[in-house]
Parts: sequence; C-alpha cells; structure tokens
Amino acid sequence: MAASIFTAVPRAPPVAVFKLTADFREDGDARKVNLGVGAYRTDECQPWVLPVVKKVEQMIANDNSLNHEYLPILGLPEFRANASRIALGDDSPAIKENRIGSVQSLGGTGALRIGAEFLRRWYNGNNNTATPVYISAPSWENHNSVFVDAGFKDIRTYHYWDAAKRGLDLQGLLDDMEKAPEFSIFILHACAHNPTGTDPTPDQWKQIAAVMKRRFLFPFFDSAYQGFASGSLDKDAWAVRYFVSEGFELFCAQSFSKNFGLYNERVGNLTVVGKDADNVQRVLSQMEKIVRTTWSNPPSQGARIVATTLSSPQLFAEWKDNVKTMADRVLLMRSELRSRLESLGTPGTWNHITEQIGMFSFTGLNPKQVEYMIKEKHIYLMASGRINMCGLTTKNLDYVAKSIHEAVTKIQ
Ligand SMILES: Cc1ncc(COP(=O)(O)O)c(C=O)c1O
Repeated sequence: MAASIFTAVPRAPPVAVFKLTADFREDGDARKVNLGVGAYRTDECQPWVLPVVKKVEQMIANDNSLNHEYLPILGLPEFRANASRIALGDDSPAIKENRIGSVQSLGGTGALRIGAEFLRRWYNGNNNTATPVYISAPSWENHNSVFVDAGFKDIRTYHYWDAAKRGLDLQGLLDDMEKAPEFSIFILHACAHNPTGTDPTPDQWKQIAAVMKRRFLFPFFDSAYQGFASGSLDKDAWAVRYFVSEGFELFCAQSFSKNFGLYNERVGNLTVVGKDADNVQRVLSQMEKIVRTTWSNPPSQGARIVATTLSSPQLFAEWKDNVKTMADRVLLMRSELRSRLESLGTPGTWNHITEQIGMFSFTGLNPKQVEYMIKEKHIYLMASGRINMCGLTTKNLDYVAKSIHEAVTKIQ
C-alpha cells in the first residue's frame, strides 16, 4: 500500500479551553472544579436551559405551520430585525433612518468571520489584506485566528489590561489608537471583556470614540455577553449605541450563546450600520455571496427561539428575567469569593473580583500558581489566570478560596 497522502500533515495543538474541559472530565478527584469553560452553570454546577427557552421550544414543536425548508441566505428576517433591535435599541436613529442591515450567523464566531471576510474583500479598497486589524491585549483567543483565516496579514494588539493596576490601561489604548494608521480596524468588546472582565466606563468610551472618529478607525464590536455584564440589556449595549449616535459606520457581531443559553444551536447576528440604506444594501448583497459559499444558509431552530422570544412583550420580559437570574448569580459569586479571600488574608488586593463584570474574572494568578491549582487542587482554569465565575457554587466556594489562598502564599 502506498503511504497516506496525509503523512505530512502536522498535528495542530488542541484548543486550550476545550482541552481543559477534557482534562477536567478525566480527573477522578471528587473535589474537582471546572473554572475554564465559558458557559453558565447553576448553583448545582449544571447547564441551564432557560425556562423561557423551554417554553418557546414547546411552542415551536406544536406549531404545525413551521417546516424545515431552507431559510433565506441572510437568515430568518424576524430574527435579524429583532436581534439588531436589541443591540441598537428601540429608538436607534440608525434603525429609524433605515440604514442598518443584518446577517444571521453561526454564533458570534460566524458573525465575526463573515464580517472579517467582508472587510478583507471590500473595506477600504478591494482585497484588502494589508489593513491593520487591532485586537485588545489580551483578548478572546479566537479573534486573532478568525482575522488571520479571513486573510488579514497585519494583526496587531492594542494596550488594554494593566496587570499592575488590575484594570484598564486607558492611556495605552488611546495612544495605540492615535498611532494606528487611518482606517485600521479595531475589534472592541461591547461589554464584559473576555478575558479580563474589565470594560471602559461611559466616559472612557467617549474618549475612545473621539479618537476613533478623528483617526478614521473602524469599530467592529463583538457583543457576546449582552445582559450578562450588568443584568440589563440596555446598560450592556451602551457603548455600541453611543458609537451609533456619534454617526459611526460599524459592525456588531452578536452571540446568543450565553444570554439565551443556546450554545450548541449556533445563533448569532452581524449588524451592519451604514450611512444610508443604499450603502447597507450593497454591503448585504456582498455578504450574501460570502454566506453562500460558507454555510449557504443558516439553521433555523435557535433563530426561531430567539425571534419568538424577542418579538413577544411577555416572552421578552420573561427572558430578561432569566438573564438577570444568571447575571445575579455571577455577581453573588464575585462578592462571595472576594469576601472569602479577604477574610483569609490572602496576600494582594481582591477588589478587582467584584469590580470586573461578566462571566470571567482575571484573577492575577500567574502560570505557576495556575499549574498548582490544576495539579494539586483539581481546579481547572486558563493559564492566563482567567476563571469563569459560573463554575463557582455555594458548595465549592470555600474550597476554591482556600486553594487560591494556598497557591498565592506557597507559589510565587
Ligand atoms: C468575546 C467572545 N466573542 C465571541 C464568542 C463566540 O460566541 P459563539 O459561541 O456564539 O460563537 C465568544 C465565546 O466565548 C466570546 O467570548
């Protein structure tokens, strides 16, 4: 037999966060805790099907008018319109002026990918691989790969996290924007920055927008946690809405994985805000071409769930209540962890645990301390020191706090 034609294929490294979960599953220790994966867990450490989602799924199952025909290439119209509406707000000037459009996508990742592909083909001239794309340091690790795979050659980082201060490096960020070539693309986390849990304040966003406007920088918002940061959809969309009110043309990638708990249904939306309807329609016509060769047309189940929920005032209210349940549990775990570390007298300051928002917290644990947590304590977290607050429960808080205390005091 001839040798395989795949002999020369190198083995790619595993995706860190999925590898961590696989290691966690294999760990037989009863004390084990998974603080790695980016998904909500109840206080019983279980995945949560939102009650409103369960209800709407049953409505869909009982609706004999529905079928499994292909959706349009750009997706379910009522999903797209409602998804963009919650990002931009009911009285968005851009919606009123009919200068927005959207593309249903396979999760937030799909929205980023379609947006990136479009920008590479059409933004600021054709086949535009040389435009710098700026990603926060640090960021969700997939941002870099999505833009590389879309063909961008000049991916850069912008200052974001000040490790010493355990907060936002606003000056570093603004300096990088001042220095960036005009028309550079900036990926901005709309809220609940992953992995640091640190967002600019409204006043800081205003400063960021002012520089971006003056320097002709393109904002590409990634909104994966609307509702999760504060419990309020409006508060968490403040930055995107402010940029729209300032007249920016922008993209906003939305994920409904977290705020609807629809991780495996792959529900996302890419909102395009342009100067006028004509520009937006031409952009969408090109996006349709990209979708056609990527997934041809999107799946319907998740989009139907979201569209049905968002278009009924009663279901919408129930959903907001469900989102608040999740956000409140995260906030409670933050204050409980902080108070335990402070009463243990763990060296360092721990106010950042409650000041950070969203699912994640950047603990400040260094890679050796993380290794200690995993190897000795069976507590799984990312090498960066990022923990998912939803992995904490009233039952494991004491154990996690004591383990962090030990890691910080024993390992430098
Ligand atoms: C910042 C950020 N963007 C995008 C995504 C992707 O979301 P989805 O799972 O819907 O593709 C995630 C998921 O973890 C994320 O944290």
